[in-house]
Amino acid sequence: MGQNSTEWAGVAQSGPEWARIGESTQISLFDFYDPCAQRKGYPFNLELDVGPVIQFQNFHVNNIGDPFMESNYGIHSRKFEVAVLDWFANFWELPKDQSWGYVTSGGTEGNLHGLLVGRELFPDGIIYASKDSHYSVFKAAKMYRAQCIKISTSIYGEMNYDDFSYKLLQNSGRPAIVNVNIGTTMRGGVDDVDEVIRTLKTCGFDSRFYIHCDGALGGLMLPFIKQEPKLTFKKSIGSISVSGHKLLGCPTPCGVVVNRLKDINLVMSTNIEYVASRDATITGSRNGHAPIIMWYTLKCLGYNGIRMKVTTCIRKAEYLEFLLKKKGVSTLLNPGSSTVIFERPKDEVFVRKWQLACEGNLAHVVVMPNVSIRHLFRFVDELAENRYIMLHDKEISTPCVAADIGPDMKYYHSVLLRNISYMISGFRQSIFKEARVHITRTSLGNPILAD
Ligand SMILES: Cc1ncc(COP(=O)(O)O)c(C=O)c1O
Repeated sequence: MGQNSTEWAGVAQSGPEWARIGESTQISLFDFYDPCAQRKGYPFNLELDVGPVIQFQNFHVNNIGDPFMESNYGIHSRKFEVAVLDWFANFWELPKDQSWGYVTSGGTEGNLHGLLVGRELFPDGIIYASKDSHYSVFKAAKMYRAQCIKISTSIYGEMNYDDFSYKLLQNSGRPAIVNVNIGTTMRGGVDDVDEVIRTLKTCGFDSRFYIHCDGALGGLMLPFIKQEPKLTFKKSIGSISVSGHKLLGCPTPCGVVVNRLKDINLVMSTNIEYVASRDATITGSRNGHAPIIMWYTLKCLGYNGIRMKVTTCIRKAEYLEFLLKKKGVSTLLNPGSSTVIFERPKDEVFVRKWQLACEGNLAHVVVMPNVSIRHLFRFVDELAENRYIMLHDKEISTPCVAADIGPDMKYYHSVLLRNISYMISGFRQSIFKEARVHITRTSLGNPILAD
């Protein structure tokens, strides 16, 4: 098959047919379907529906420059971008007239940007980040030639505030740029923003600090979880970033970073004549399709749709943990998280088959909206069978994870009690239902996200 547009359209419509790229490479839509059914380790929501906005794919949509300023390039989606940014500013409680931000290429770019703003505000600042922070945080420190101090963490992946305080006091002469994790990559650990701010103030940092919140996955989840510390710009934070392809399920990597407008005006305002706009973003050309898809997804879901996705993911994660424990697998699940950690399977073929993300002795499953209860049963059964073969037939011992996740019997009991209470209240039935959000396809109209 050649590459002209009619044939490509045929491939897209007729499903799993072969498509040829160049002379020797072939891909099939089968290649995409199969891994989609089994992928568990990475926090990508594969429950995708881009509806009518797919039509914009026929254009080169480029949001080069500042989303809030006109630039010379005419085919852009800045109206959608601003609507998305307004939604997030409102979500994290930053008044519209005090907020700035842009649709990024993902959580990494959000971190690069947030930490750059901190670095520009405090050129002699030190970056503090827990050792469980995403690698993009340490990459940012390297790129900006900033000193970076790692803070130890608890087994739950949360920053150790005593260690933070100790390290702040050792460097009290230099401002602090702090990366706060709203859901760490491996354990879903959440740093307590209030405790971070209290520690900074107690150590005499008063206003000599900047806080960036890495909410790649948790930034959209935390505000829906009552018992978690509130994620809000009413606190002394400078920026929050989130990924758009994680919980929201956009089909291309994307994300959002929201900043305080005053910071951007102060340190990120270089006018570029060539594009007739201000250069305050990390990249130049920016994906104009991502804001359209994010806007469509947010508009379809609304707060209630997202809340339902969050709740369902957490309940399913709790249930997965319960199933694993029943099979004798050591696990850890942070309250309010959908990341279930367990001992790393010894069989690499199994790891690859389920695309488990592993680190040291641990592996995790991130329960995303597309992960069904049926998938979880299948996964646990296969894992248990595989583990049995490794232990009994091949006599390979499982890793000892006590040091990684602790002897968590107390937590086991709390999970058990929670599951019993679900059964009693009849609530448990509801977690077996897949989160089906009723989507009303309205005409796109003006990109304003009312909720
Ligand atoms: C905590 C955290 N921050 C940042 C990122 C990077 O996000 P992205 O892959 O969207 O660049 C991830 C990715 O998993 C993450 O877990």
